[in-house]
Amino acid sequence: MFSKSALLTAILIAPLALAMPSPTETAKRSTCTVDSVSSASDLSDCSDVVISSFTVDDGDTVTMSFAEGATVTMTGEVTFASTTASGPLITFEGTSISFNGGGNTFNGNGADYWDGEGTDGGKAKPHPFMKIEASGSFENFIVLNTPAQAISVNNNDPLTIKDVTVNNLAGNTDSLGANTDGFDVSASDLTITSCVVENQDDCIAINSGSNIVFSNNQCSYGHGMSIGSISSGKTVSGVVFSDNTVTSSMYGTRIKVDSDATSGGVSNVTWSGNTMSGITYYGVLITQSYPDNDGTPGTDTTISDINFIGSPTDVSVESGAYRVTVDCGNCDGTWDWSELTATGGDAGTIDSEDATIEGGSY
Ligand SMILES: *[C@@H]1O[C@H](CO)[C@@H](O)[C@H](O)[C@H]1NC(C)=O
Repeated sequence: MFSKSALLTAILIAPLALAMPSPTETAKRSTCTVDSVSSASDLSDCSDVVISSFTVDDGDTVTMSFAEGATVTMTGEVTFASTTASGPLITFEGTSISFNGGGNTFNGNGADYWDGEGTDGGKAKPHPFMKIEASGSFENFIVLNTPAQAISVNNNDPLTIKDVTVNNLAGNTDSLGANTDGFDVSASDLTITSCVVENQDDCIAINSGSNIVFSNNQCSYGHGMSIGSISSGKTVSGVVFSDNTVTSSMYGTRIKVDSDATSGGVSNVTWSGNTMSGITYYGVLITQSYPDNDGTPGTDTTISDINFIGSPTDVSVESGAYRVTVDCGNCDGTWDWSELTATGGDAGTIDSEDATIEGGSY
């Protein structure tokens, strides 16, 4: 029901609004179509953006800077020619954006670059492929065959990424795809949910940030769910990994802190209800020796409050793999691992330094 005053206000204002729409409001109501690199360049007056099929030529990159609150939809595939440009090849910017890809694809033509050497050598590979520097929601699209790292998320306002597929399955052929991380995250207040990542490196790598949820995702063929690697001065806190599935991967889940990091660290990480199977190297690895898995850990960073609680997390590793390894130089607190069960392979080494680990079967 309307109050009397609201009704009165509506009666007084409605004719004015009809009679004199301000120029900016009119402009912001427009629908803009992006069907080329140049048409993507100024979207500041577009409340609705429709991305239709187009190709990004060699040397070009795309930045779409959306108006606040814009609604973005896709009607076709965006294809990237083999390029000499460096990444990101496509960047999305904006506040409170509703992006729905309608199941359409961003095609990076990774096979043109893949040589088994990733970003460490061989052919130059633009990376990341896509960068999201926006808040709001980004949903329902496919990122196909990225040269190297797929999606980089850099943002500190609430963002949900949902129903996104990173399909680098073709990179498994002859082990040519490498460093094809699904999500590289330096962000806070982020949820990534119901996504599928098939790749050859981390499914997610959280490099810095807080209040991050990774839930109901499926990760295959890569290096599992990671925090890190953490370099000097970087902190990650408040991460929840829940109800994810990791299959046929080198690692199940990791916290990796650079051995030479001089400050920073990881705190308050929770796993609940995850299933990891077909793990070929380490089921769970928590290390301050990175890039070594289990080596001489650094002591200038801190790892604390690391828990497997809530619903059971089950890890099953292949023969010759380690179930759980903890390699601390400076860890503390009491860690509740009561909902962790790891089976198969061999036991790893547990050196939790000042942290006390309680419960669990591994
Ligand atoms: C731990 O992280 C969770 C999830 O981000 C958050 O809700 C909780 O408040 C954090 N706890 C502490 C002690 O910071």
